[in-house]
Amino acid sequence: MFTIEELEAGFKARFGRQPQLFRAPGRVNLIGEHTDYNDGFIMPAALEYETRAAAAARADRILRVHSVSRNETVEFDLDSPNPAPRKDWTDYVFGVAVMLERAGKRLTGADILIVSSVPLGSGLSSSAALEVSIGYSLLALAGLPIDRVELAKLCQKAENEYVGMRCGIMDQFISCNGEHDHALMIDCRSLEKRSVPIDPRAVVVVANSMVHHELASGEYNKRRASCEEGVRLLRPVLGDIKALRDVSPDQLEQHKALLDDVTYRRCRHIVTENDRVVEAAAALEAGDLARCGALMNASHVSMRDDYEITCDEVDKLAEIAWKLPGVFGSRMTGGGFGGCTVSLVEAGAAEAFMAAVKVAYKEATGLDTVIFACSPREGVSALSA
Ligand code: GLA
Repeated sequence: MFTIEELEAGFKARFGRQPQLFRAPGRVNLIGEHTDYNDGFIMPAALEYETRAAAAARADRILRVHSVSRNETVEFDLDSPNPAPRKDWTDYVFGVAVMLERAGKRLTGADILIVSSVPLGSGLSSSAALEVSIGYSLLALAGLPIDRVELAKLCQKAENEYVGMRCGIMDQFISCNGEHDHALMIDCRSLEKRSVPIDPRAVVVVANSMVHHELASGEYNKRRASCEEGVRLLRPVLGDIKALRDVSPDQLEQHKALLDDVTYRRCRHIVTENDRVVEAAAALEAGDLARCGALMNASHVSMRDDYEITCDEVDKLAEIAWKLPGVFGSRMTGGGFGGCTVSLVEAGAAEAFMAAVKVAYKEATGLDTVIFACSPREGVSALSA
């Protein structure tokens, strides 16, 4: 990762003036997968891996953005009508600028240099960290007030409407609102949040499978469509339901004959996962780490068998974790089809756990996992040099 000094020096060398500095984190989700776009519950935490931006306003309406990781500079005119997506990383940048402007925020042009330590394409929300860092920088440079919930929604809108990924609110919301040493239990319908401290007797460990399957965004949108189909088919018997959030596991069982097998299993993952999140948050708050871990394991099985969003490598990582001493629970985290697992591990056992997972995963797959213990951070902020 670039230090703050390197970030500032990099900007000055490229753009020849003094920048302001900002940061926005990636995230890990402890439990509650694919529930966000069903108006359900999630429990993510912001990571210490983040996108950093050095930025200075320009007198005109040009956005000039340099990505250090890609060694690429792109330009964009805030006044160009209906700019077309380019199908690359720049869509996250320009998409956010477009949505801010459409929401009536009059931006200034800007020079921005970005660098990120969030591993790309591994389910830790590198895209949300990029979007939120850009959105926050642009609002700050224009001297506009920043509402963190509104910023999260506009960044999600950029991804939905500009990038074409029908994601929920989780990644952008936690990148905006994360809290030091806490996970947030979020109700994605009301956007109410509750801080849930990470029990000091446990450590949250993320292990990267190092695989990411290409079909991810197409499959993601298909899962979302299945959930909508489930709501449509259940509405005649359940009345005015808006989302799977409004359906209990019992109701789903009772009316399962209305759904084809695939739609039923997709819905079953969501309605049981919502209950698991509520229970896991209560268990973590009550210090019941064993219960919280058991719910994480059940979440993985549900994603594997019902929602079918895991893959062999990620299943292997979870299975390895389940057998190791000191592990309360382990599951895939993020959108799926590769990416990372998250494990809740006894503090004293974490080092040995990480070493053992590395060896066992290499033996099982030939791949080298990148594995680290997390310490949750606060959401997007200015950085001082
Ligand atoms: C991706 C999306 C989120 C969420 C997760 C799955 O990260 O961006 O909105 O749906 O997948 O929980």
